[in-house]
Amino acid sequence: MPSDPTPLTARRNGPLAGAARVPGDKSISIRALILGALTVGETRVTGLLEGEDVLNTAQALRALGARIERTGERAWSLRGVGVGGFAEPAGVLDFGNSGTGCRLTLGAVAGCPITATFDGDASLRSRPMRRVLDPLQRIGARTLHSDEGRLPLTLAGARDPMPIVFEPPVPSAQLKSATLLAGLAAPGETVVIEAEATRDHTEKMLAHFGAQVRVERIKAAGRRITLTGQPELEPRPVIVPADPSSAAFPLVAALIVPRSDVILRGVMMNPLRSGLLTTLVEMGADIERLEERDEGGEDVADLRVRAGSLRGIEVPAERAPSMIDEYPVLAVLAAFADGTTVMRGLKELRVKESDRLAATAALLRVNGIEADIQGDDLLVHGRGRPAGGGVVTTHMDHRIAMSAIVLGLGSERPVQIDDGTFIATSFPGFVELMRGLGADLS
Ligand code: S3P
Repeated sequence: MPSDPTPLTARRNGPLAGAARVPGDKSISIRALILGALTVGETRVTGLLEGEDVLNTAQALRALGARIERTGERAWSLRGVGVGGFAEPAGVLDFGNSGTGCRLTLGAVAGCPITATFDGDASLRSRPMRRVLDPLQRIGARTLHSDEGRLPLTLAGARDPMPIVFEPPVPSAQLKSATLLAGLAAPGETVVIEAEATRDHTEKMLAHFGAQVRVERIKAAGRRITLTGQPELEPRPVIVPADPSSAAFPLVAALIVPRSDVILRGVMMNPLRSGLLTTLVEMGADIERLEERDEGGEDVADLRVRAGSLRGIEVPAERAPSMIDEYPVLAVLAAFADGTTVMRGLKELRVKESDRLAATAALLRVNGIEADIQGDDLLVHGRGRPAGGGVVTTHMDHRIAMSAIVLGLGSERPVQIDDGTFIATSFPGFVELMRGLGADLS
């Protein structure tokens, strides 16, 4: 686990250049481990993200009875216990900083007749769990101990899980996924009705492992997902594509550091994750998709990114689910654009690894950038190259840390962050990868 704070400083250097591949997608990596743990037989995963969030989830799944081994670089082998087959863990399951690992495992445990205690670091302990406990209780799980729906909490899984129809009150892939994973153990059909579609990795991977999953479009942006419970999951290889949410950092850095020309390889292009690309193109960014192809059931492409002038735009609220983790780094980019960028509908940012709405505005302001929060909207006023020179408080939040570093690569004066250790939750090797492209980080 991250221990002593490690400050980091980013400063202007020459253009960024070269090619790089960012680590595997965090959402897919965590799901591959959980589904592998629920499958009898050997599941092989290649390209797994070897970040703290994923490793903590693997440790929890081992405590629940799965066998998980690293067989090579980013290559992992799992032997699972079958749907409903988790064993009662001897100790507390510690998810560290990982909301996704914790919430999805809560769902998987909710369908098993065992009791388990879930915990995490100070950031995860401050995040809401009630939203996920509500559907799990309807399925038949019981919360034995929890402080107002926060960690640490003890969950008793259902002895006779019931299929439910659930309409998440907020657009959240974690909430949808936890419900579907609990529904795996229930007889009959578990249905999740989303008013706004969120990332669909759970439903795609369930189908990949042989479960019956039906996805129907409803209204303009919604989806109805129907899972037939108690499937025999069959082991299938999983190939993890490069994480678009991690690619966002070198991508934005290449757009704001003058004369940069960078290629990012194998980036996942799933449309439910591509809102940032849509937005950047609207702002005038020079991004070329090369070698578009299929890798392990996901569209991927190499992205060639060149620096150039950008203009402020309005980003509609409906786009938020497809770029929810990218707003801090988009806000940094907006400071370099010409005019104001308005980002609407950012309520969910308040309950991420930190209050990301407040943390993003603070990171900009301490570096001389004008930013306003109006209700759930963030406005960033771009006025040429920002001053920089600030020390950013990262609040145990990897994406705030990396966004601040990107800012420092383009601003007049260096930007310092109080702690870079949490970057390892999602992007191990971030500093080395950025240095390889020419960034000055110390
Ligand atoms: C994730 C869903 C999103 C996202 C998180 C990963 C997932 O959270 O912010 O980083 O893998 O399902 P919410 O479901 O809370 O929006």
